[in-house]
Amino acid sequence: MSETIKVSPLKKITGEIAVPGDKSISHRAAILAGLSDGSCYVENFLPSEDCVNTLRAMAQLGVKYEVENGTDERPVDLVIHGCGGNLEKASVELDCGNSGTGMRLLAGVLAAQKFDSVLVGDESLSGRPMGRIITPLAEMGAQFETRGEKPGCAPLAITGGSLSPITYEMPMASAQVKSAVLLAGMFAPDKTTVIQPAINRDHTERMLNSFGVKVKTEGNEISVYGGQKVRSRDLVVPGDISSAAFWIVAAACVPGSRLLLSNVGLNPTRTALLDVLIRMGAHIRDHVQHEDGGEPRGSIEIIGRQLKGTEIKREEVPNLIDEVPILAVAGALAEGELVIRNAAELRVKETDRIETTTENLRLMGADVEEFEDGLIVTGGQSLKGATLDSYGDHRIAMAFAIAGLLAQEGQTTITNTECVATSYPNFLEHLQEICK
Ligand code: S3P
Repeated sequence: MSETIKVSPLKKITGEIAVPGDKSISHRAAILAGLSDGSCYVENFLPSEDCVNTLRAMAQLGVKYEVENGTDERPVDLVIHGCGGNLEKASVELDCGNSGTGMRLLAGVLAAQKFDSVLVGDESLSGRPMGRIITPLAEMGAQFETRGEKPGCAPLAITGGSLSPITYEMPMASAQVKSAVLLAGMFAPDKTTVIQPAINRDHTERMLNSFGVKVKTEGNEISVYGGQKVRSRDLVVPGDISSAAFWIVAAACVPGSRLLLSNVGLNPTRTALLDVLIRMGAHIRDHVQHEDGGEPRGSIEIIGRQLKGTEIKREEVPNLIDEVPILAVAGALAEGELVIRNAAELRVKETDRIETTTENLRLMGADVEEFEDGLIVTGGQSLKGATLDSYGDHRIAMAFAIAGLLAQEGQTTITNTECVATSYPNFLEHLQEICK
């Protein structure tokens, strides 16, 4: 039976939350620790379905690991024994579940292996474009067959082999595409370069450097030389700012709220949401406390205020792309217009998030105008509780659970909420703590 979340309006948001580990960093930790030349202690791995699928895929490719804290289903601290770059052919199809990051990053690695692999995913992932990674990886010499019903979509059969380096000008500001090319580039001779149209999350570059693989970033050009050893190291995964975003917005929008989030990743390529909320009048203070492993992490304090609308700048979009659904909820509670354009990438996420966000906000009584590349939310209407579908999209489920807390009246029911386990398995627990 499908799960539901029911929420009632809350007068203010107070307390302290430590969100689970960062999803992007956990995927990369599973891959790079797995390729490294020794044992790596990974602390605060995100125990979510997406990241566990990537970890299992690495295990099916010959990487051993032991869970030190948590369970096999939900590993939190673990030791990954790197294979020194010697992956083995998997005897099964590798199931990436719901995760575009898992599939695209693994494809980059598998493109360079001397064996064939098949990557599969759930219904949502089987409808997402893989052409964006196939184009550069095929140019490097790998062969692909997309076996999905939709052209260019998974299942993705990969015939890997010796690759040639390329310079690739990426048409969209995608960290997944950039990462796939850089990971493949590690196995190619000489220099592989990705030119990005705009800055986007740089966890792959940071983590490669911290594992001893030198990556050079000059403006929008990122280069890696092949043939470098991936050196094992221990790492601590920071809390996921995209998960923290739900609570940040909840507290920022409601005068009288006060919330403290600890151990959150504060990588500047992920914090555009904070800049936008501050521009909207929010009282937010972040404080970096650690910077080990190349990823800053620290605390965020939020005090609630009446917010006002703003326009999201083009260059901010890639650095808050996963936060758009919850930011749109903030827009509905702010005075004036919140303008989110240049965000057509949202149409190819776990759902078409322009459509699913617009639909659900309208059902709650918000004034939303939809565009091909974004939306404009005009605040000031009172939000009413409603029955909403998550459409199987974790971020839609959580954004509208928060919208239900922030509604002026009525209960909100979100259906199909098992998907929250793909990125935030203890979301419901945290929601209950906040509502106590
Ligand atoms: C991610 C990159 C982003 C983001 C996704 C995670 C990553 O996608 O939306 O949730 O870990 O590299 P794109 O790179 O396709 O924009």
